[in-house]
Amino acid sequence: VNFQYQQQSYSINRHPLEENQSLQAWSAADEHLLQHLEGVSLENKEVVILNDRFGFLTCLTHSHHPTSIQTSKSEEKATQQNLLNNQLDVTGVSFFTPLSLSEKAFDVGFLKIPKSLELFRLYLQTLAQNWKEDAVLFCGFMTRHFSPQILTIAAEFFEEVEQSRAWKKSRVLILKSPKALKERALIHQISFEGQVFQQYFGVFSAKHIDYASQFLVENLTLNPNDQRVLDLASGNGVLAAIARKQNPNCELHLLDDSYLAIESSKLNLAAANTFFHCDNTLTDFETDYFDCVISNPPFHFEHEINIQTSLQLFKEVQRCLSPKGCFILVANKHLNYKTHLQLLFSTINIVNENSKFIIYECCDKIIAL
Ligand SMILES: C[S@@+](CC[C@H](N)C(=O)[O-])C[C@H]1O[C@@H](n2cnc3c(N)ncnc32)[C@H](O)[C@@H]1O
Repeated sequence: VNFQYQQQSYSINRHPLEENQSLQAWSAADEHLLQHLEGVSLENKEVVILNDRFGFLTCLTHSHHPTSIQTSKSEEKATQQNLLNNQLDVTGVSFFTPLSLSEKAFDVGFLKIPKSLELFRLYLQTLAQNWKEDAVLFCGFMTRHFSPQILTIAAEFFEEVEQSRAWKKSRVLILKSPKALKERALIHQISFEGQVFQQYFGVFSAKHIDYASQFLVENLTLNPNDQRVLDLASGNGVLAAIARKQNPNCELHLLDDSYLAIESSKLNLAAANTFFHCDNTLTDFETDYFDCVISNPPFHFEHEINIQTSLQLFKEVQRCLSPKGCFILVANKHLNYKTHLQLLFSTINIVNENSKFIIYECCDKIIAL
């Protein structure tokens, strides 16, 4: 999809490319941020971009050598792909995660406010030490996603909080005079099954262990012979921790797209024989590798319900499972995953279900001839 900006045409797409190609890789809130960008001189300024899901703002500000702070592997891959597709040098952008940001000092920031306001807070906390005195941070959002809490959080970090007029149902907050705040790790602690799980702000299900995962934990029995186990979309690692208790000697893998999730899970699991992967695909694993895959797969993408990611992951699970292996997953019933799973596995057992959730055990993968 093309976007015209300053006499240039940019082709910015969602990556991985989705079946529903009508979904745009940016919103009016991003375009609104661009209008504010035009109002400030960026010459010799250090620019930082946050929560730029597919790299739209990073591509358009490329000539200013922006720093892009990314929270997921898919965001990094999509941004790099869009840079490449527009013949923009990837090395012209400095990539960091909120946990790896160096001591760089910034003049101007552009941030698309995420659905998780805890993540918004984490972004602001991350940058609190990195602003120059007269820095400005522009934060874009769609008006329908407004919550007064956005203003409260912004005011915790900046003296001046101004709100733009609405344009195409979006608004921009203009934050100035950053407050001098101390460094602070934003971590939640959640007690569950005799363990205290830690997780960074912005990681899935902050107040309690997700109810779907709790239901899976109540019903999970691994085969003691399962040697290689994967917790797919592992979040804070709660399912992996249960797997570790049941099969203390297994080779345990956790994979999640979110850097913050993977870093959280490292706080919750002992490192011995445990492997942490920050990725959004299983392409790095060999075919037939795992004896068992357990998962509470994602079905939200920011404000959208989107099961495309999970359906793609199911195909990858099928490839990575050994012929005798099983895939055990919990899901909201209404997602009706069975229709999709039975194209990949000959046996699908319902381990348990309640009014909201269902647990499938998928075995006997269908091997393509
Ligand atoms: C429903 S949560 C489950 C988290 C954790 N297992 C739990 O039970 O609390 C889904 C997780 O999927 C992750 N995710 C989203 N897309 C992904 C992808 N393509 N590959 C791997 N993980 C992904 C999210 O970061 C999130 O942590």
